[in-house]
Amino acid sequence: MTVLGIETSCDETAASICHDGRILSNIISSQVVHSSFGGVVPEIASREHELMLNSIVNDAISEANLSLGDLDAIAVTQGPGLAGALLTGASFAKGLSIGLNISLIPINHLEAHIFANFLADPNLNYPFICLLISGGHTQLWLVKNMGIYVLLGETRDDAAGEAFDKGSRILGLGYPGGPQIEKISKNGDPTKIIFPRSLMGSDNLEFSFSGLKTSLLYFMDNFQESKECRLADVAASYQQAIVDCLSEKLARAIMKTGITNCVIAGGVAANSCLRAELNKRIRNAQILYPDLEYCTDNAAMVSFLGEIKLKSGYKSNLIFNVSPNLKLT
Ligand code: KG4
Ligand code: ZN
Repeated sequence: MTVLGIETSCDETAASICHDGRILSNIISSQVVHSSFGGVVPEIASREHELMLNSIVNDAISEANLSLGDLDAIAVTQGPGLAGALLTGASFAKGLSIGLNISLIPINHLEAHIFANFLADPNLNYPFICLLISGGHTQLWLVKNMGIYVLLGETRDDAAGEAFDKGSRILGLGYPGGPQIEKISKNGDPTKIIFPRSLMGSDNLEFSFSGLKTSLLYFMDNFQESKECRLADVAASYQQAIVDCLSEKLARAIMKTGITNCVIAGGVAANSCLRAELNKRIRNAQILYPDLEYCTDNAAMVSFLGEIKLKSGYKSNLIFNVSPNLKLT
């Protein structure tokens, strides 16, 4: 089967073709226009999607050496995400599926992030633990099977990606913050400043990053760059605090559940410091990481999951509404 995937939940306009479990094309246009605002402006995001969708979808189809008539179905992100941004993709997908008379499969963006791991390892076995870390979510899931998800813990306040983005703004670096902080941190000393790591002593699997962000804000109030303490040291110390919280809670989830099969998903999964820390710290479990291009928002994960759903008998749905707060369970 051949499925076109469309993803417009935030500031990435993306389209991809999946054919029999293989990604034939994966086109992404990132909206750089937001960087001057230090974060995504929802109305601008919707307008940019409108401008780009047609050509991105065409590029995805032609890069796969296909034409519109070869498509069996369209999969599109239903939520969670920005309402207007989701609407542009969903409306485009509905129109195209009606025009071509093919199935339409709404996709949960969070589930797509998790399933990106099957692109890294098609033989990934259930059950597994997923640390889902993106701009809007920080959650630990027990994935028992497709569609059977148990939430083990999540953040009480900011998501890990949000902590990177807000931290980056405080440090005067660009948006999105994760890659910026990661880059500058490579030259920094992560032990220079001990930022707080919240909820580390508690036995639960919850996260909290708002105290860390406030602590950085206060620190920067009196910060003067010097040889002894450079901006790179501050960034590296901040990154290390986030990474420590994430790896501690994943280690705890493994201990609590006894499940040693783990995957990481979402934009923050691209972070090399996190990957190194997890590999160093978690020796009693296997950790699978999606390819970097499948960590941050992309349509390959959408077309891939769409095809799986289609093959497992999921019926076409042309009348769904977008759902900005869509949950996994
Ligand atoms: O999954 P994603 O692309 O979009 C959402 O579903 O939210 O995640 C975006 C988040 C942003 O907060 C961004 O700063 C973060 O992922 N991110 C990173 C890295 N690349 C993206 N965080 C840390 N290190 C990175 N290399
Ligand atoms: Zn995402």
